[in-house]
Amino acid sequence: MAKRRDNTWLVKWLKDPIGMGQTDPAGKELLAKFKNVPMPNPNLDDAKIAAVLAYIAQESAKAPVAVAEVKPLEGEHFEKAKGIYFNRCAGCHGTLRAGATGPAITPDRTKKIGTTALQTILTNGTPGGMPAWGREGVLTADEITLMATYVQMTPPDPPQLPLEKIKESWKLSVAPDKRPKKPETKKNWQNFFGVILRDAGKVARSSTATSRSCSPRSTPASRCTSSARPRRGGTSSPSVATARSR
Ligand code: HEC
Repeated sequence: MAKRRDNTWLVKWLKDPIGMGQTDPAGKELLAKFKNVPMPNPNLDDAKIAAVLAYIAQESAKAPVAVAEVKPLEGEHFEKAKGIYFNRCAGCHGTLRAGATGPAITPDRTKKIGTTALQTILTNGTPGGMPAWGREGVLTADEITLMATYVQMTPPDPPQLPLEKIKESWKLSVAPDKRPKKPETKKNWQNFFGVILRDAGKVARSSTATSRSCSPRSTPASRCTSSARPRRGGTSSPSVATARSR
Protein backbone atom coordinates (compact mmCIF):
# COMPACT_ATOMS: atom_id res chain seq x y z
CA MET A 1 0.00 0.00 0.00
CA ALA A 2 2.80 2.39 0.89
CA LYS A 3 4.02 1.85 -2.67
CA ARG A 4 0.71 2.86 -4.25
CA ARG A 5 0.43 6.29 -2.61
CA ASP A 6 3.03 8.66 -1.31
CA ASN A 7 3.37 9.57 2.32
CA THR A 8 1.92 13.08 2.03
CA TRP A 9 -1.25 11.63 0.51
CA LEU A 10 -1.49 8.94 3.18
CA VAL A 11 -1.15 11.51 5.97
CA LYS A 12 -3.90 13.65 4.42
CA TRP A 13 -6.10 10.55 4.02
CA LEU A 14 -5.74 9.45 7.62
CA LYS A 15 -6.48 13.00 8.83
CA ASP A 16 -9.70 13.29 6.91
CA PRO A 17 -10.85 10.24 4.91
CA ILE A 18 -14.38 11.58 4.59
CA GLY A 19 -13.32 14.96 3.16
CA MET A 20 -10.76 13.32 0.86
CA GLY A 21 -13.49 11.03 -0.44
CA GLN A 22 -15.33 14.11 -1.62
CA THR A 23 -12.53 16.32 -2.93
CA ASP A 24 -9.44 14.27 -3.81
CA PRO A 25 -9.46 12.37 -7.15
CA ALA A 26 -7.88 9.21 -5.70
CA GLY A 27 -10.13 9.54 -2.62
CA LYS A 28 -13.23 9.78 -4.82
CA GLU A 29 -12.12 6.70 -6.72
CA LEU A 30 -11.68 4.74 -3.49
CA LEU A 31 -15.08 5.80 -2.18
CA ALA A 32 -16.77 4.68 -5.40
CA LYS A 33 -14.85 1.41 -5.41
CA PHE A 34 -16.12 0.60 -1.94
CA LYS A 35 -19.75 1.28 -2.75
CA ASN A 36 -19.74 4.81 -1.31
CA VAL A 37 -19.25 3.59 2.23
CA PRO A 38 -16.76 6.11 3.62
CA MET A 39 -13.92 5.12 5.91
CA PRO A 40 -14.66 6.68 9.29
CA ASN A 41 -12.23 9.30 10.57
CA PRO A 42 -9.76 7.42 12.80
CA ASN A 43 -9.13 10.58 14.90
CA LEU A 44 -5.37 10.14 15.12
CA ASP A 45 -2.92 12.92 15.96
CA ASP A 46 0.18 13.54 13.80
CA ALA A 47 2.43 11.31 15.91
CA LYS A 48 0.00 8.39 15.75
CA ILE A 49 -0.45 8.81 12.00
CA ALA A 50 3.32 8.71 11.52
CA ALA A 51 3.56 5.59 13.71
CA VAL A 52 0.78 3.78 11.83
CA LEU A 53 2.31 4.61 8.43
CA ALA A 54 5.75 3.46 9.58
CA TYR A 55 4.21 0.21 10.76
CA ILE A 56 2.38 -0.35 7.45
CA ALA A 57 5.54 0.39 5.45
CA GLN A 58 7.49 -2.08 7.58
CA GLU A 59 4.86 -4.83 7.23
CA SER A 60 4.46 -4.23 3.48
CA ALA A 61 8.18 -4.76 3.00
CA LYS A 62 7.97 -8.26 4.43
CA ALA A 63 7.41 -11.33 2.31
CA PRO A 64 3.74 -12.33 2.03
CA VAL A 65 2.56 -14.47 4.92
CA ALA A 66 2.29 -18.14 4.11
CA VAL A 67 -1.29 -19.38 4.14
CA ALA A 68 -1.84 -20.96 7.53
CA GLU A 69 -3.28 -24.45 7.55
CA VAL A 70 -6.34 -24.73 9.73
CA LYS A 71 -6.95 -27.74 11.89
CA PRO A 72 -9.89 -29.46 10.15
CA LEU A 73 -13.10 -29.96 12.11
CA GLU A 74 -14.06 -33.48 13.02
CA GLY A 75 -17.04 -35.45 14.28
CA GLU A 76 -19.83 -33.48 15.88
CA HIS A 77 -18.09 -30.13 15.25
CA PHE A 78 -18.00 -30.88 11.55
CA GLU A 79 -21.64 -32.02 11.52
CA LYS A 80 -22.71 -28.89 13.40
CA ALA A 81 -20.86 -26.59 10.99
CA LYS A 82 -22.27 -28.49 8.02
CA GLY A 83 -25.79 -27.99 9.39
CA ILE A 84 -25.28 -24.28 10.00
CA TYR A 85 -23.83 -23.88 6.51
CA PHE A 86 -26.77 -25.63 4.92
CA ASN A 87 -29.35 -23.61 6.87
CA ARG A 88 -27.73 -20.19 6.91
CA CYS A 89 -25.24 -19.90 4.10
CA ALA A 90 -25.95 -22.26 1.22
CA GLY A 91 -28.92 -20.20 0.03
CA CYS A 92 -26.58 -17.35 -0.95
CA HIS A 93 -23.20 -19.04 -1.44
CA GLY A 94 -24.38 -22.34 -2.95
CA THR A 95 -24.21 -25.87 -1.53
CA LEU A 96 -20.72 -26.37 -2.95
CA ARG A 97 -19.77 -22.76 -2.10
CA ALA A 98 -19.24 -21.96 -5.75
CA GLY A 99 -21.28 -18.78 -5.34
CA ALA A 100 -24.81 -17.64 -6.11
CA THR A 101 -26.12 -14.27 -4.87
CA GLY A 102 -23.04 -14.28 -2.64
CA PRO A 103 -19.52 -14.78 -4.01
CA ALA A 104 -17.69 -18.12 -4.20
CA ILE A 105 -16.21 -19.04 -0.83
CA THR A 106 -14.21 -22.12 -1.76
CA PRO A 107 -11.01 -22.87 0.21
CA ASP A 108 -8.72 -21.24 -2.40
CA ARG A 109 -10.41 -17.96 -1.50
CA THR A 110 -11.21 -18.44 2.19
CA LYS A 111 -7.71 -19.64 3.12
CA LYS A 112 -6.34 -16.39 1.74
CA ILE A 113 -8.81 -14.40 3.82
CA GLY A 114 -7.70 -16.31 6.92
CA THR A 115 -9.46 -17.28 10.15
CA THR A 116 -9.35 -13.89 11.86
CA ALA A 117 -10.73 -11.92 8.91
CA LEU A 118 -13.37 -14.60 8.31
CA GLN A 119 -14.51 -14.26 11.91
CA THR A 120 -14.77 -10.48 11.45
CA ILE A 121 -16.80 -10.86 8.24
CA LEU A 122 -19.11 -13.37 9.92
CA THR A 123 -19.54 -11.21 13.00
CA ASN A 124 -20.03 -7.81 11.41
CA GLY A 125 -21.21 -8.58 7.89
CA THR A 126 -20.11 -6.41 4.97
CA PRO A 127 -21.66 -3.47 3.12
CA GLY A 128 -22.11 -5.64 0.00
CA GLY A 129 -24.85 -7.79 1.52
CA MET A 130 -23.22 -10.32 3.82
CA PRO A 131 -25.41 -10.45 6.96
CA ALA A 132 -23.90 -9.63 10.38
CA TRP A 133 -24.51 -13.05 11.90
CA GLY A 134 -22.65 -12.32 15.12
CA ARG A 135 -23.78 -8.78 15.75
CA GLU A 136 -27.39 -9.73 15.04
CA GLY A 137 -27.15 -12.51 17.59
CA VAL A 138 -27.89 -15.33 15.13
CA LEU A 139 -24.57 -17.12 15.60
CA THR A 140 -22.60 -17.26 18.85
CA ALA A 141 -18.87 -16.48 18.98
CA ASP A 142 -18.13 -20.23 19.15
CA GLU A 143 -20.31 -20.92 16.12
CA ILE A 144 -18.53 -18.15 14.22
CA THR A 145 -15.14 -19.69 15.00
CA LEU A 146 -16.54 -23.01 13.84
CA MET A 147 -17.80 -21.53 10.57
CA ALA A 148 -14.57 -19.61 9.94
CA THR A 149 -12.78 -22.97 10.03
CA TYR A 150 -15.44 -24.87 8.15
CA VAL A 151 -15.42 -22.58 5.11
CA GLN A 152 -11.67 -23.13 4.76
CA MET A 153 -12.22 -26.87 4.41
CA THR A 154 -13.21 -28.62 1.18
CA PRO A 155 -17.01 -28.62 0.93
CA PRO A 156 -18.49 -32.07 1.52
CA ASP A 157 -20.56 -33.64 -1.25
CA PRO A 158 -24.18 -32.57 -0.93
CA PRO A 159 -26.58 -35.35 0.05
CA GLN A 160 -27.93 -37.13 -3.01
CA LEU A 161 -31.66 -37.41 -3.53
CA PRO A 162 -32.31 -39.93 -6.29
CA LEU A 163 -35.37 -39.55 -8.49
CA GLU A 164 -37.06 -42.60 -6.94
CA LYS A 165 -36.77 -40.98 -3.50
CA ILE A 166 -38.14 -37.71 -4.81
CA LYS A 167 -41.08 -39.59 -6.32
CA GLU A 168 -41.89 -41.19 -2.96
CA SER A 169 -42.81 -37.82 -1.48
CA TRP A 170 -44.45 -36.55 -4.66
CA LYS A 171 -48.10 -35.64 -4.27
CA LEU A 172 -50.19 -35.18 -7.35
CA SER A 173 -52.70 -32.48 -6.49
CA VAL A 174 -54.40 -32.02 -9.85
CA ALA A 175 -54.06 -34.64 -12.56
CA PRO A 176 -52.90 -33.24 -15.93
CA ASP A 177 -56.27 -33.88 -17.63
CA LYS A 178 -58.07 -32.04 -14.78
CA ARG A 179 -55.98 -28.90 -15.13
CA PRO A 180 -57.68 -25.76 -16.45
CA LYS A 181 -57.16 -25.09 -20.13
CA LYS A 182 -57.81 -21.38 -19.89
CA PRO A 183 -57.24 -18.71 -17.21
CA GLU A 184 -59.71 -19.01 -14.31
CA THR A 185 -59.61 -15.34 -13.50
CA LYS A 186 -60.20 -12.14 -15.38
CA LYS A 187 -57.11 -10.62 -13.74
CA ASN A 188 -54.04 -10.17 -15.86
CA TRP A 189 -52.43 -13.56 -15.19
CA GLN A 190 -49.33 -12.59 -17.11
CA ASN A 191 -48.61 -10.06 -14.43
CA PHE A 192 -48.88 -11.87 -11.10
CA PHE A 193 -46.28 -11.77 -8.38
CA GLY A 194 -45.97 -13.95 -5.33
CA VAL A 195 -43.83 -13.92 -2.22
CA ILE A 196 -42.59 -17.36 -1.29
CA LEU A 197 -41.48 -18.18 2.25
CA ARG A 198 -38.97 -20.70 1.06
CA ASP A 199 -38.10 -22.27 4.40
CA ALA A 200 -41.72 -22.49 5.53
CA GLY A 201 -42.77 -23.84 2.14
CA LYS A 202 -45.59 -21.34 1.88
CA VAL A 203 -46.74 -18.69 -0.48
CA ALA A 204 -47.19 -15.67 1.74
CA ARG A 205 -49.07 -13.51 -0.65
CA SER A 206 -49.87 -13.39 -4.28
CA SER A 207 -51.72 -10.76 -6.17
CA THR A 208 -51.83 -8.97 -9.46
CA ALA A 209 -49.88 -5.83 -9.88
CA THR A 210 -52.26 -3.95 -12.10
CA SER A 211 -50.78 -1.51 -14.51
CA ARG A 212 -52.82 1.15 -12.70
CA SER A 213 -51.18 0.76 -9.28
CA CYS A 214 -47.77 0.62 -10.87
CA SER A 215 -48.13 3.45 -13.30
CA PRO A 216 -45.17 5.78 -13.11
CA ARG A 217 -47.61 8.67 -13.38
CA SER A 218 -49.74 7.85 -10.36
CA THR A 219 -47.30 6.15 -8.00
CA PRO A 220 -43.71 6.81 -7.05
CA ALA A 221 -41.52 4.18 -8.72
CA SER A 222 -40.25 3.11 -5.30
CA ARG A 223 -43.66 1.69 -4.41
CA CYS A 224 -43.65 -0.51 -7.43
CA THR A 225 -41.23 -3.38 -7.02
CA SER A 226 -39.28 -4.43 -10.06
CA SER A 227 -40.78 -7.90 -10.01
CA ALA A 228 -44.26 -6.44 -10.07
CA ARG A 229 -43.61 -4.22 -13.04
CA PRO A 230 -45.14 -5.50 -16.25
CA ARG A 231 -42.50 -7.25 -18.28
CA ARG A 232 -41.41 -5.76 -21.48
CA GLY A 233 -41.91 -8.03 -24.43
CA GLY A 234 -44.77 -9.77 -22.65
CA THR A 235 -43.28 -13.13 -21.66
CA SER A 236 -45.88 -15.44 -20.22
CA SER A 237 -43.95 -16.63 -17.15
CA PRO A 238 -45.16 -14.97 -13.98
CA SER A 239 -42.55 -13.03 -12.07
CA VAL A 240 -41.81 -14.44 -8.67
CA ALA A 241 -40.15 -12.66 -5.80
CA THR A 242 -38.71 -14.91 -3.16
CA ALA A 243 -38.24 -13.86 0.43
CA ARG A 244 -36.20 -15.80 2.87
CA SER A 245 -37.35 -16.23 6.40
CA ARG A 246 -34.47 -16.23 8.78
C1 HEC B 1 -28.30 -13.07 2.18
C2 HEC B 1 -27.25 -13.72 1.46
C3 HEC B 1 -26.07 -14.27 2.26
C4 HEC B 1 -26.07 -15.20 3.26
C5 HEC B 1 -27.28 -15.92 3.84
C6 HEC B 1 -24.70 -15.41 3.62
N1 HEC B 1 -23.88 -14.61 2.87
FE1 HEC B 1 -21.86 -14.54 2.95
N2 HEC B 1 -21.87 -13.00 1.60
C7 HEC B 1 -22.98 -12.55 0.94
C8 HEC B 1 -22.59 -11.49 0.01
C9 HEC B 1 -23.50 -10.72 -0.93
C10 HEC B 1 -21.18 -11.33 0.17
C11 HEC B 1 -20.28 -10.31 -0.53
C12 HEC B 1 -20.29 -9.10 0.33
C13 HEC B 1 -19.45 -7.94 -0.16
O1 HEC B 1 -18.88 -8.00 -1.24
O2 HEC B 1 -19.38 -6.97 0.62
C14 HEC B 1 -20.78 -12.31 1.17
C15 HEC B 1 -19.47 -12.49 1.58
C16 HEC B 1 -19.04 -13.55 2.37
C17 HEC B 1 -17.66 -13.84 2.66
C18 HEC B 1 -16.47 -13.04 2.17
C19 HEC B 1 -16.11 -13.49 0.78
C20 HEC B 1 -15.00 -12.71 0.15
O3 HEC B 1 -14.48 -13.18 -0.87
O4 HEC B 1 -14.65 -11.62 0.64
C21 HEC B 1 -17.65 -14.96 3.44
C22 HEC B 1 -16.43 -15.68 3.98
C23 HEC B 1 -19.02 -15.35 3.65
N3 HEC B 1 -19.84 -14.47 2.97
C24 HEC B 1 -19.41 -16.44 4.40
C25 HEC B 1 -20.73 -16.73 4.73
C26 HEC B 1 -21.14 -17.75 5.67
C27 HEC B 1 -20.20 -18.71 6.38
C28 HEC B 1 -22.50 -17.67 5.77
C29 HEC B 1 -23.42 -18.46 6.67
C30 HEC B 1 -23.19 -18.33 8.09
C31 HEC B 1 -22.95 -16.63 4.84
N4 HEC B 1 -21.85 -16.08 4.24
C32 HEC B 1 -24.27 -16.30 4.60
C33 HEC B 1 -24.27 -12.99 1.09
C34 HEC B 1 -24.69 -13.89 2.03
